[in-house]
Amino acid sequence: MSSATPHPLTSSRCGALAGDIAPPGDKSISHRSIMLGGIAHGVTTVRGLLEGEDVLGTVAALRAMGADIRKDDDGVWHVAGAGLDALHAPDGVLDMGNSGTSARLLMGLVATRHFATRFDGDASLRKRPMGRVIEPLSRMGARFDSVDGRMPLTVLGAAHPQALTYELPVASAQVKSAILLAGLGCDGVTTVIEKTPTRDHSENMLRGFGAQVVVEKNTGGADVISVTGKPRLAAQDITVPADPSSAAFPLVAALLCPGSRVVLRGVGVNPRRAGLFAVLRAMGASIVYDNPRDEGGEPVADMIVSASALSGIDVPPDIAPSMIDEYPVLAVAAACAQGVTRMRGLGELRVKESDRLALMAEGLAQCGVRVDIDGDDLIVHGTGAPPAGGVTVATAMDHRIAMSFMVLGLRSAQPVRIDDGSFIATSFPGFTGMMNKLGAKIEASS
Ligand code: S3P
Repeated sequence: MSSATPHPLTSSRCGALAGDIAPPGDKSISHRSIMLGGIAHGVTTVRGLLEGEDVLGTVAALRAMGADIRKDDDGVWHVAGAGLDALHAPDGVLDMGNSGTSARLLMGLVATRHFATRFDGDASLRKRPMGRVIEPLSRMGARFDSVDGRMPLTVLGAAHPQALTYELPVASAQVKSAILLAGLGCDGVTTVIEKTPTRDHSENMLRGFGAQVVVEKNTGGADVISVTGKPRLAAQDITVPADPSSAAFPLVAALLCPGSRVVLRGVGVNPRRAGLFAVLRAMGASIVYDNPRDEGGEPVADMIVSASALSGIDVPPDIAPSMIDEYPVLAVAAACAQGVTRMRGLGELRVKESDRLALMAEGLAQCGVRVDIDGDDLIVHGTGAPPAGGVTVATAMDHRIAMSFMVLGLRSAQPVRIDDGSFIATSFPGFTGMMNKLGAKIEASS
């Protein structure tokens, strides 16, 4: 499984990395800025929008449903909406490409609009489970025409939307967000109960746009998140922080390449996203948060990262939602660390852009690293020595698998090649240039 024209890349052992960079904008916040801007009244401005393919898919979808979205000469995006009721059925199919976030959140948004929307995606997205949103959104009155709960599928939005109270069966910010967005179209209060906290950008941003969102703890300690339907959302000015999930790649590269010192500017450090940084510090990483501040309601900091000798540790399952997208690159760090790292409770990794549990284990083993999978746990046996490398790794249309192995190649004895780097553009356009500017050696390969 790869793109129509695969772009193989090779990464080779390099010296110390040095420099000062601003990683691209946060993907989750960028999607939500466009969606909420598109259903608010007035013109929302967005600075630092991630212009990756996934977010551009969300832009195209909102345009197809009536929002007027433009980018000005200064790179600021302007999203003009006329309220939720102004959304209309798109003319054609909404092509969600590789983006699970676009697909699931937009299904929520249209589930309580009384029109039909057809969704499709690429070969990776077509494999991913949509039942997790189909089930609650059906209870709110939407009807779905799909084979086996996968895309392509059609959503027929509810004629008489019903507010819902729903306990999440999986720790998923996408499912939570889909239900909250659907709740906007209902009379009354829609409530999501989440036992394991996941990223809270939807709650925070909905509140910022003027919706009434209440978050309480129930007696069992779970978060109970309620949104009151039919709000009048008002346009906002948004500054998108740098994405901690993207910053993770140059950050781990700097930790692994001896002598490195890299500064990463304006990185989001929301505690529900920052699990990786805590885990790496516990492994011995030198990561300093400089100039911590609040930007547009999100905590951000400049990160000063210095090469560090890492030791293996046990990573408990309850931290997984706060670093769910970072396990591939953590596994690379673990492969170069001294000792065993056991990452527990990674079942959700099997349903990401690829089966990340299987792909990381296979790729690392090919590179000469001892790896075991035990149930939902990934166990990496690091020796502190550079992995052998010298192989081509399959990336299965997964941007984070691709970038993770490019980081490994910077440290391995022989170069590491990936079969296709084109999907990196879904979340981190300019990845190769930014890494090479720091001193990495990542090149197109035949
Ligand atoms: C996201 C939630 C996570 C994450 C994805 C972005 C979001 O997915 O993996 O990259 O923006 O809500 P799940 O909700 O499926 O864990």
